[in-house]
Amino acid sequence: MNLEKRVLSNRIPCHIAIILDGNGRWAKKRKLPRTFGHKVGADNLKKTTINCSKLGIKVLSVYAFSTENWNRPKEEVDYLMKLPLELEKSFKGNFKKHDIKVMFSGRRDRFSKENIELLSKIEEKTKERSGLILNICFDYGSYTEMLTATKEICDLYKNDRIKLDDINEELFSSHLYTKDLPKLDLLIRTSGELRISNFLLWQLAYSELYFTKKLWPEFNNKQLLVAIDNYQKRNRTYGGLKEKK
Ligand code: FPP
Repeated sequence: MNLEKRVLSNRIPCHIAIILDGNGRWAKKRKLPRTFGHKVGADNLKKTTINCSKLGIKVLSVYAFSTENWNRPKEEVDYLMKLPLELEKSFKGNFKKHDIKVMFSGRRDRFSKENIELLSKIEEKTKERSGLILNICFDYGSYTEMLTATKEICDLYKNDRIKLDDINEELFSSHLYTKDLPKLDLLIRTSGELRISNFLLWQLAYSELYFTKKLWPEFNNKQLLVAIDNYQKRNRTYGGLKEKK
């Protein structure tokens, strides 16, 4: 049986997350500017979104800009800030065709007014769609996400809206950006780095992890199938002995 058939005949992960790493190195290898690597990376994100949608994956979360990425050179940050507009312009027809809903997770207060409006516009325009959800983590960091949730919960407690015993996993999860999304099944990181880098720390408690040396611009449909095939061979016990169905 070929790889695609095998993957499709097994359980498809519902929610995949990807740390899109290696754009800079991909460009450097070709003596091209880092920003060109991000351009090719953004094109690859579009292709991967469609590939995931075709495989029946329900949610694709991607780490597009971290809370720490503001420390990069201004030229690079400026380029990355233009990517949501580029995505909107170049891909809206295709996203509609595949019924893709787009959401952004992360801080909004450090973006330009134009970008703040654009992110809301994209979310608003696609919110009724029922196909794959593309969750773009943009100015995202898990520390910020969890601290914000903690402050919101403390506020509820202070105002007598909840009791101490009401604070549990479910309540905490309901204060995260991912509150409406299914549990994360598989986290992929490209480029050979073996780190999580402040990405979805709460959500990946029981996710499977997959690391590949391929740089993000090289991560094609075949690589995606290899990652899912590898995931399908894992025995997910959630701390117990038998796999949960
Ligand atoms: C990490 O590679 C990549 C990023 C910081 C940006 C990734 C963003 C995209 C692929 C596009 C996102 C699209 C939208 C619509 C926002 P790196 O620069 O750290 O690579 P390096 O480790 O090789 O230097």
